[in-house]
Amino acid sequence: MPFLLNKRKNNFDNRPSIEGEIDPTQRAWIEVSGKAIEANVRKLKSKLKKNCEFMAVVKADGYGHDAKVVSENAIKGGASQLGVATLKEGIKLRSFGINIPILVLGNLYTKKDLLICFRNDLMPTISNMRECLICNNIGKGNNLKFSLHLKVDTGMSRLGFECNQFIQQFKNIKSLENITVKGIYSHLACADEHNVMNPKSKTQLQKEKFQELLKLLKIDKKENIKIHLANSAGMILGKDFHFDMVRVGLSMYGYNPLVKINGNLFLKPALFLKAKVTFVRTIEKGTGVSYGNKFVSDRKTNLAVLSIGYADGIIRNLSGKISLIYNKKLYPQVGSITMDQMMVDITDSDDIKVGSTMLLLGSEGGKSISPIDWADKCNSIPWEILCSFKNRLPRVQVD
Ligand SMILES: Cc1ncc(COP(=O)(O)O)c(C=O)c1O
Repeated sequence: MPFLLNKRKNNFDNRPSIEGEIDPTQRAWIEVSGKAIEANVRKLKSKLKKNCEFMAVVKADGYGHDAKVVSENAIKGGASQLGVATLKEGIKLRSFGINIPILVLGNLYTKKDLLICFRNDLMPTISNMRECLICNNIGKGNNLKFSLHLKVDTGMSRLGFECNQFIQQFKNIKSLENITVKGIYSHLACADEHNVMNPKSKTQLQKEKFQELLKLLKIDKKENIKIHLANSAGMILGKDFHFDMVRVGLSMYGYNPLVKINGNLFLKPALFLKAKVTFVRTIEKGTGVSYGNKFVSDRKTNLAVLSIGYADGIIRNLSGKISLIYNKKLYPQVGSITMDQMMVDITDSDDIKVGSTMLLLGSEGGKSISPIDWADKCNSIPWEILCSFKNRLPRVQVD
């Protein structure tokens, strides 16, 4: 067997690459509108407190949209900083020539990773003294200052210094000569929940805890330390959440996490998920469809087979719960979503045929389907829906 595998590998190696010949829109793909990202940043920025900066959160490949496209367009719209989760994500952005400040939101805990962070001009998030001292040593070894952000935990219980120990620790940190504290921040745990406006809600209490801490820290304006707390939902909640900077992901991509509380922000979804019809068949009444035959037709039915499935990141739990848009009309998906394909009931259409493009997410002709709708149907969240899309789906920039 190993012999066969090796032989095969050699065959592949000798074959000329055909990747460039395959049309990325031949099967299933994601269209990304850079203009929508730019417009959303502009719109959101117009709602910020005066002088408040906008950090575009582009982790997880820009929430599945393509971090390069998102970053470049967010910068055009006025984003002055970027947030990534990992070292690799930050380094990739630097390799594209992006030169605005980039904060790594995840924790870097080894000397090696912190050194790589420093060498790539990325700012780490620091949550304890040990890592702070490593950064100071790196700065010292290079005769420079290592720029970083300190994180304080106000209720998320994820990263961050303990709030009640931070005052003393901050004094110690300020005495370190080879680091520059560029920011102090915290993260909201429940900002997208329905009770956020209640003064006793977890979100309002987190904000108060952060404000009290800041008062005790007595930070001098001249130190130019950026204070930040808000994600998209926090930003939408109002100016008392804005401080010196907001870190916005979901809303920049065109979705309002507080849509039930805070109405229409006139954001433009930047992502359009599309797939081609690759086969059409007619089934008689009483015919089972897909694995498990969970859907049985109650009439003579025309089915379109679409070339997209859970291996592309469409959550299987959405089987039979979603609709697709074609020419301003909605068509129900039926039967279990399979690894690479799904079936759609197109009986009511007279124009869908092999080669037609159907829209799974996005808006067209007054009809719109968003990751928030999908999330509601499968007990998920829009963030997870967006980050689920696999690399098998080519990302195509449309403007
Ligand atoms: C630390 C931090 N800040 C900001 C954000 C952006 O959140 P949102 O997408 O809700 O705007 C995230 C995303 O998870 C995050 O982890």
